[in-house]
Amino acid sequence: MVLMKISEVLSGKSNSKVITIRGWVYRKREGKNLIFLLIRDSSGFIQCTVKKDSSGWVEAERVTIESSLIIDGIAKPDDRAPGGFEISVNSISIIGLAEIFPISKDQSTDFLRNVRHLWLRSRKMNLIMKIRDKVLEFSRDFFRKNQFIEVSPPMFISAAVEGGSTLFDLKYFDQTLYLTQSSQLYLEILIYSLEKVFCIAPSFRAEKSRTIRHLTEYWHIEGEWPYANMSDLMNFQESLVSYICEQTILNCKNELEELKVDLKKLKLVKTPFPRITYSESIKILIENGSKLNWGDDLGYEEEKIIANKFGCPFFIYDYPTSIKAFYCKTHREDPNLAMSVDMLVPRIGEISTGGAREDDKDLLIKRINDSGLKIEDYSWYIDLRKYGTIPHVGFGLGLERLLVWMLDIDNIIDSIPFPRTTRRFYP
Ligand code: 4AD
Ligand code: MG
Repeated sequence: MVLMKISEVLSGKSNSKVITIRGWVYRKREGKNLIFLLIRDSSGFIQCTVKKDSSGWVEAERVTIESSLIIDGIAKPDDRAPGGFEISVNSISIIGLAEIFPISKDQSTDFLRNVRHLWLRSRKMNLIMKIRDKVLEFSRDFFRKNQFIEVSPPMFISAAVEGGSTLFDLKYFDQTLYLTQSSQLYLEILIYSLEKVFCIAPSFRAEKSRTIRHLTEYWHIEGEWPYANMSDLMNFQESLVSYICEQTILNCKNELEELKVDLKKLKLVKTPFPRITYSESIKILIENGSKLNWGDDLGYEEEKIIANKFGCPFFIYDYPTSIKAFYCKTHREDPNLAMSVDMLVPRIGEISTGGAREDDKDLLIKRINDSGLKIEDYSWYIDLRKYGTIPHVGFGLGLERLLVWMLDIDNIIDSIPFPRTTRRFYP
């Protein structure tokens, strides 16, 4: 007897052979002389038929939805069965007989989110998690192909990266520390040793916003490297995103099909992405009836208006310095403009932010002071500009926002196994 994954059985390799599968009962239908069990494992579903005269009959009668089983039987092609194969069951051993499974009755979104620990067994979540794994793999591949080194920054930090309003503080023995909002400043330290670095790590935001694109804990794909300009930075990001889309289409065909993802949209992701300046984006907004003025930050609604115009990923760059963080490098000929760039996509708006970093010690100190931050909190960051400063750029791409866009997911909550929002932190 050969132990097999369901996907292997469905591939037809084991046709007419006696095989063993391990799984859970997804559905059960009882006839007088025949019981149909739809069994799932991590790889897929298969129909198993149990005849009344087989030795598995008594167990088949007892099993309930989500009971865990080991089944022995013969695999054979059957056009009526989902996937084109079924298992004619010889014997069943029940590993864990399930109590009445709560999900069969109430399928409201809110309920499913409350029983997340059980809903993760659903086909939809199974498929999203598999693609998420692949997107992480393709991201790493892309950085490595470009000679980047993966590094591991800390999550406990002593000074804010982004604005204080989204900072989580926590008691750390007898001091106050914060949860990191971005690993950027730590990547900046590491470029002086490793030059091209990246990390894929959690970032935390005390976001009260309840939108389809906000979590309080999300996974951040961040890169940082020296001797590059804004154009290199955009080239790199668009190549990364188009590589991820291309590889996902190639390697996750079945998952995308089953999730009914709009493949046309993914196939259209081709470099170069359109690029417009912040000033041009304000012009587009005013033409569309917006009351926004030059200098105002773009909100979710504004981003959506511009993104729908493009219908594909694109960049907005050269933002007003006044709405950007202290570390953004400014144009030397016009300090009111910061070398900062966002990537946006339809429906979601911003999915990444990056830019050139201020590499001049005195200008950096001025920006820290102007931003109302305490110089002493950033003395190590200023050191980087004292000892062999170099021009450098970097970016941070939100993994979940990317997935929400790629897979047409309704809400960011379903792009991560254990979502954290203002209201959700269970389990
Ligand atoms: O725009 P943000 O705040 O930029 C930074 O953190 C930079 N320090 C990154 C860098 O240059 N290394 O965040 C970057 C991205 C956003 O574009 C978005 O995709 C994601 O992180 N993000 C969130 N995703 C989910 N929920 C939230 N609350 C998010 N906040 C930001
Ligand atoms: Mg941003």
